[in-house]
Amino acid sequence: MIFKKIKEDILYAGMNDGGRLIFDELIPLDKGTSYNSYVVKGSDKTAVIDTMYPKFTQEYLKSFDENGITKVDYIIANHGEQDHSGSIPAMLEKFPDAIVVTNATCAGNIKEMLFVPAEKIKIIKNDEEISLGNKTLQFKIAPGVHWPDTMFTYIKEDNVICTCDFLGAHYIFDDVFAVPSKELEKSAKKYFAEIMMPFSTMCRKYVQMVRDLKVEMVLPSHGPVHKNPDYILDLYADWAGEKGKNLVALPYVSMYNSTKDMIDYLADKLDKKGISTVKYDMVNGNLGDLAIALVDTTTIVMGTSMVLTGPHPAAFNTAYLASVLRPKAKIASFIGSFGWGGNLFGKMAEMLAPLKLDIIEPIQVKGQAKPEDYAKLDNMADEIYKKHKELGLF
Ligand code: FEO
Repeated sequence: MIFKKIKEDILYAGMNDGGRLIFDELIPLDKGTSYNSYVVKGSDKTAVIDTMYPKFTQEYLKSFDENGITKVDYIIANHGEQDHSGSIPAMLEKFPDAIVVTNATCAGNIKEMLFVPAEKIKIIKNDEEISLGNKTLQFKIAPGVHWPDTMFTYIKEDNVICTCDFLGAHYIFDDVFAVPSKELEKSAKKYFAEIMMPFSTMCRKYVQMVRDLKVEMVLPSHGPVHKNPDYILDLYADWAGEKGKNLVALPYVSMYNSTKDMIDYLADKLDKKGISTVKYDMVNGNLGDLAIALVDTTTIVMGTSMVLTGPHPAAFNTAYLASVLRPKAKIASFIGSFGWGGNLFGKMAEMLAPLKLDIIEPIQVKGQAKPEDYAKLDNMADEIYKKHKELGLF
């Protein structure tokens, strides 16, 4: 556990989970994550903003004793997901006079998921405030970043905001304050891709809201505290923006290298035209690398071998993930190789349909690509170049 002063009478009370290798059983973590909780000590009342991942509840509770926090009046639930709300029942046992403060949607969640009794919950509305004496907590209901129940807690006199998952990162640290680095940016981007990208419109709205508040610090519930809010706000504004970069993502799976040869050929052609590419091995790659590429990519060209009568299952997995993460990509196509028959691309195109992509004519070959297939790949590269140019990416 780390207990550390953030500002006068505002304490970080969270911990690093360096052993966590994957989050949501989906995206591998580079170096684990942190679960952040904050203690705000007013002249009359004490509040705890978000709690702890249940696995570490006992350690978390003990740290209150070790740091002389003997009274908690309010437990603020910014969000009902258990990595932040999971220790609320144990906190209510330890501090029986405390009440949970949250919005109506989150109240429903913690009642149903954690069996928090209704009489222990105070439901607040947007912009409602509670006083701790010399400090005031104001609640900013922020549905969509990333659950419908999400809200932020703004500590008015200190001009700092606790944004829960929003503006977070799966990152661990010795000092709780962010030190900008490529490593932090990569972790935050991967986190954004998995957790926030499907809600980019809402991200843009709340980036502006936090900017308008001109806060001194951003206190998220994963990753470091930002003393320079513009650092993380600028990154989120870029990632959540509507326009992609001059980038083509090339996820592929290839049984006999026929598909990979075509992906390599296309990547080379695109590189020569000044278009960046990211190749991603759908079987052996790290899903986080694909997620990061999807944040920026304008075009996705998927390569797959045929397995029996359809695409390789890894290609289905990627197409599904892309459809639910809702990247800003505008263009797509498919490349693949088959042995004896089947429908290689139909189901993938169906999966990607919600993204409303502009589909370039796919290329399907029997076995290895022939000269006429390479000519088609040349045409595909030309077509991508033309479309990127039309989108103003050069
Ligand atoms: Fe970190 Fe949505 O919980």
